[in-house]
Formats: sequence, structure tokens, C-alpha cells
Amino acid sequence: MKLLHIDTSILGQNSVSRQLTALIIERLRALHPDAQVQHIDLGAEPLGHLSGAHLAAGQGATPESPAVLRDLERGRTALEEFLAADIIVVGAPMYNFSISSQLKAWIDRVCVAGKTFRYTEQGPQGLAGGKKVIVASSRGGFYGPQSPAAALDHQESYLREVFGFLGITDVTFVRAEGVNISPTQRQAAISAAMAEAAQLAA
Ligand SMILES: Cc1cc2nc3c(=O)[nH]c(=O)nc-3n(C[C@H](O)[C@H](O)[C@H](O)COP(=O)(O)O)c2cc1C
Repeated sequence: MKLLHIDTSILGQNSVSRQLTALIIERLRALHPDAQVQHIDLGAEPLGHLSGAHLAAGQGATPESPAVLRDLERGRTALEEFLAADIIVVGAPMYNFSISSQLKAWIDRVCVAGKTFRYTEQGPQGLAGGKKVIVASSRGGFYGPQSPAAALDHQESYLREVFGFLGITDVTFVRAEGVNISPTQRQAAISAAMAEAAQLAA
């Protein structure tokens, strides 16, 4: 059993999603005592944005820049870790109605044609099925289906669809929302999400 723990918040010690991913991992370790856990902190050490040099390297070119070479190697490792994982715990803060650019940079490395999806005559086919994803979602406001801002949720909706595109349909959200509305709401949202994390099933 391999667990991949990914943090992507830029808020360090003040991050809500980091608190939640830590608790979710604690819960999963209790459920799967034999699990190997790999932690990647993309807030602290982001992957680079995809560039022309990255794409050219994918076509066989050798990049001149040592920084791009290192980043390509990290991207390859990110893909291998993703493919090897049975459960992936993703810290996903909402920034500007979407995910952090650090998480997007990671997604850009794991959405690879021929590895995690392919196009067929019947349409796209995900190749990374059989995994479970647990997303620790934190957001300042409210974006539930009944809220006036529901249409601005390009965070959870995007993650559900992109993992689905890769063939992963078992996606669970542990959510703290409204955390910037007031200190009382923040504490209530975090406590509720923590209680949910503590109840996660195997
Ligand atoms: C750069 C930035 C952009 C944000 N954009 C939004 C937003 O569009 N909608 C929202 O509800 N909250 C927004 N927030 C609040 C965060 O969603 C909230 O602080 C959440 O806890 C972030 O997760 P984290 O604490 O793990 O970083 C933003 C916060 C930051 C720092």
C-alpha cells in the first residue's frame, strides 16, 4: 500500500489544507499500518511551469538549461510516484476560484498521453484507474451547489473532472469552507473537516 501525500498551499503554518492533509494521512496510517507514505511539498518546492523546452525534451531534444534538466527529472519522479500510489491525498486550497498554480504544475506533469490517458476512436480513456484520491479542500468563502457563488468553483469541480479524465472515479472531498468569513466560522469549518477526516473509511 503506497500513500502519496501532496501539499500545495503557499500559506505555510497558517494553511488549513495542510492541517487537513496531515490528519487524513494520520487516519490512513491507522487504517493501513503497513503503508509507505511519500510526502511532496509543492508549496515549499514547486515544480516549474511547462515550457517549450519541456515539450521539446518530450520529443527527444536535450535541454541546454541545467534548471530545466533538473525540473524534468522531478517531473518524471512526480509521474512515477503518482502511478505507483494506491491512495493520493491532495491539499487543494482555493486561490482565485481555482487550485494553486503549484498543484496545477503537478497536474501538468501527471497528465501524460500514453501514460495516464490515451485517445481512442471511442474518445479519451483514463489509464490511471483503481486509485483513490482524497482532496483536502480549503476555501475562504462558500461555493456549495446552493450558494450564489457556486458557478465560481473551478477548484473542486476541476479536480473531480481531471482525476476522472485519468480514470480515477473514487474521489472524496474533505472540505473546510468559509474559513475567511469570521474566526468562529473558520474554527467551525476546520473542526467539522477534522471530524470528517477522522471518520474516513479504508
Ligand atoms: C492568493 C489567494 C487567493 C485566494 N482566493 C480565494 C478565492 O478565490 N475564493 C475564496 O473563497 N478564498 C480565496 N482565498 C482564501 C483561501 O481559499 C483560504 O485562505 C484557504 O484556507 C486556503 O487554503 P490554505 O490555507 O491551505 O492555503 C485565497 C487566498 C489566497 C492566499
